[in-house]
Amino acid sequence: MVDARSMIDTLSRWFDRAGASAAVTAHAEALHRHGDFPRWQQAVSKLPAVEPGWTVRDGWLHAGAPAAERDMLRDLLEAFIPWRKGPLVLGGVPIETEWRSDFKWNRVAPHIDLKDTRVLDVGAGNGYFGWRMLAQGAARVLACDPTPLFAMQHAVIRHFAGAAEHELLALRLEDLPPALSGFDVVFSMGVLYHRRDPALHLAQLRERLRPGGCLVLETLVLPDEGQVVVQPEDRYAGMRNVHALPSLSSLLGWLETAGFGAARCVDVSVTTPDEQRSTRWMPFHSLGEALHPVDDRLTVEGLPRPRRATLTAMLQRP
Ligand SMILES: C[S@@+](CC[C@H](N)C(=O)[O-])C[C@H]1O[C@@H](n2cnc3c(N)ncnc32)[C@H](O)[C@@H]1O
Repeated sequence: MVDARSMIDTLSRWFDRAGASAAVTAHAEALHRHGDFPRWQQAVSKLPAVEPGWTVRDGWLHAGAPAAERDMLRDLLEAFIPWRKGPLVLGGVPIETEWRSDFKWNRVAPHIDLKDTRVLDVGAGNGYFGWRMLAQGAARVLACDPTPLFAMQHAVIRHFAGAAEHELLALRLEDLPPALSGFDVVFSMGVLYHRRDPALHLAQLRERLRPGGCLVLETLVLPDEGQVVVQPEDRYAGMRNVHALPSLSSLLGWLETAGFGAARCVDVSVTTPDEQRSTRWMPFHSLGEALHPVDDRLTVEGLPRPRRATLTAMLQRP
């Protein structure tokens, strides 16, 4: 269930009450506006009560003790397809998500210290990474993602996981009330290339950090050396909303211009169909259909295939 009161209480411990209440009101309105909300809410209301709790094993987030009627639970969880980020085991039901998000986390996690930090996860999907951040010592995680289905998936995961310092708002970064700021670490993973104005996105990430805080940026890059930026004319890897693909040098330049210091690239990896693929829980097109049929170094549009860089950078103290 979407429990606005308990969300306001939690966010009021983290920020001022007016900011908390404005954020949760906007979140609830975003969910209620969606045509599927009544169907989702009905499915959430039928989820079985199980012993709550969560743990991560071999990259799988296990939430909740196994439910007695797992066939019925599986049907209820199908109401929230497509499941993109995971993998998950909810109430004993395994959900093979489109992404093995644990692969990404294994590339990112060794390079950051999250002990006792206040984290903002921007474009969080269903919040899978937030659990990994908590498991790695974060004190609390605020996630935001404007896709209502993903906020509902987070509510489903929370049903099984139980109380946790991990909230997800169905809002865009730019729509979070200004009071929701001062984070020690801000993550933007897989979001920058969806933004029409990458410089603006970096400026908006910067605004949420405390001085001396850390940005973790993960995004698509070109294999090219030097300063190169490609703006796909139509689709990129089948996606309509990819606006700019920079080379690593260009991306480092963007970070510097945005006022970040000590920027460094900690990983570059080519995405493989082991990491991103269609499954019964995400039955639509995935990476397999996005690659060129003859030359798998390219996308179907003839551009370099997806490769992702992870960078860390600091917001310098004034
Ligand atoms: C490719 S997914 C990445 C999800 C996850 N962070 C990951 O790395 O796997 C991009 C997500 O960003 C969200 N998004 C798009 N624009 C956003 C914005 N302005 N503010 C916050 N999230 C946004 C989308 O809804 C989508 O879930």
